[in-house]
Amino acid sequence: MSSASSAVPARSVRWSGDEFGTLTLIDQTLLPVEFRENEYRTVEEVWEAIKMLRVRGAPAIGCAAAYGMVLGLQSVAQASREEFNTRLAAVADYLAGSRPTAVNLFWALDRMRSVAEAEAALSSSSMLARLLSEAQAIEIEDREMCAAIGRHGAALLNAGDGVLTHCNAGGLATAGDGTALAVMFAAAAEGKQIHVYADETRPLLQGARLTTWEVMQRNIPVTLICDSMAGWVMKEGKIQAVITGADRIAANGDSANKIGTYSVALLAKAHNIPFYIAAPSSTFDLAIATGEEIPIEERKSDEITHGFGRQTAPAGVDVYNPAFDVTPASHIAGIITERGIIAPVTTENVVSMVQR
Ligand code: MRU
Repeated sequence: MSSASSAVPARSVRWSGDEFGTLTLIDQTLLPVEFRENEYRTVEEVWEAIKMLRVRGAPAIGCAAAYGMVLGLQSVAQASREEFNTRLAAVADYLAGSRPTAVNLFWALDRMRSVAEAEAALSSSSMLARLLSEAQAIEIEDREMCAAIGRHGAALLNAGDGVLTHCNAGGLATAGDGTALAVMFAAAAEGKQIHVYADETRPLLQGARLTTWEVMQRNIPVTLICDSMAGWVMKEGKIQAVITGADRIAANGDSANKIGTYSVALLAKAHNIPFYIAAPSSTFDLAIATGEEIPIEERKSDEITHGFGRQTAPAGVDVYNPAFDVTPASHIAGIITERGIIAPVTTENVVSMVQR
């Protein structure tokens, strides 16, 4: 793995070359202090990048995993198709073990697997090239979905609105302009003067480190608040809408997103402020009926006790660190997808929008 620094932000996920090429990811753990792109040559490096949140955000994880499969199969390009298929199954299972909650990871891996199954007659080398084109299609489609989410969602915002978001659902988290942030970017591009409020997003500070960085680059006014301030800022009348991304949405609309999102949704309800989710169809998991079935990732305690290298809790303290929570559909005013807005959020409306 090699790395390069740049002052200009590039795409979060980028492939270079043909099927024997390399994957470049922005190392999101270093932002906003350092902008660095790392070049990946092995599937093990990509697994580590997903696990450690160097690449993060549900759609970006899906794109990185698809390219990670190509990297993991380069070594069997000259092998028999049987050997290629055995390796493909192992690589997909390996990448699937990196993070459990964002369904885009499993969606992308399944899509790659299905292509290989459908084209069983291709030689291994042709199959590798075909898989690269599928990964590139996933990336391009994600970019288009972000743009469409922005277009649909912008209609929900009015000039003068304060819009709160939690975590980072921007360009860094996708192959395009993001989901929740795409809505804000599109509204601003339409000339609506909005003001973004970014929750800091404990414990890994995706809001403070990444969302404010992205919004500032777009010259849109943004104010950083601690997570614990959201209720008060709503009470003060500064927030007219809340929009977040999602990591997995069940058939009834229950939506998993970064830990703290559920609290924000409850606060929005208490203050009569609409709470929206923005997510592409690749984030829906219609195989599960409700959010009860969404697996929630638990991460290491040192993210809380030693955030960014400094000890902030007594040694040996008991810690609970779920990385995501689930907001019930009943608290969601609408889900903004690339196909339109699901509102009210019911199983019937979710299924008919996602399956059409
Ligand atoms: O742990 P992370 O940083 O990967 O969590 C990311 C989020 O919760 C995002 O809001 C979600 O993936 C949507 S990104 C468009």
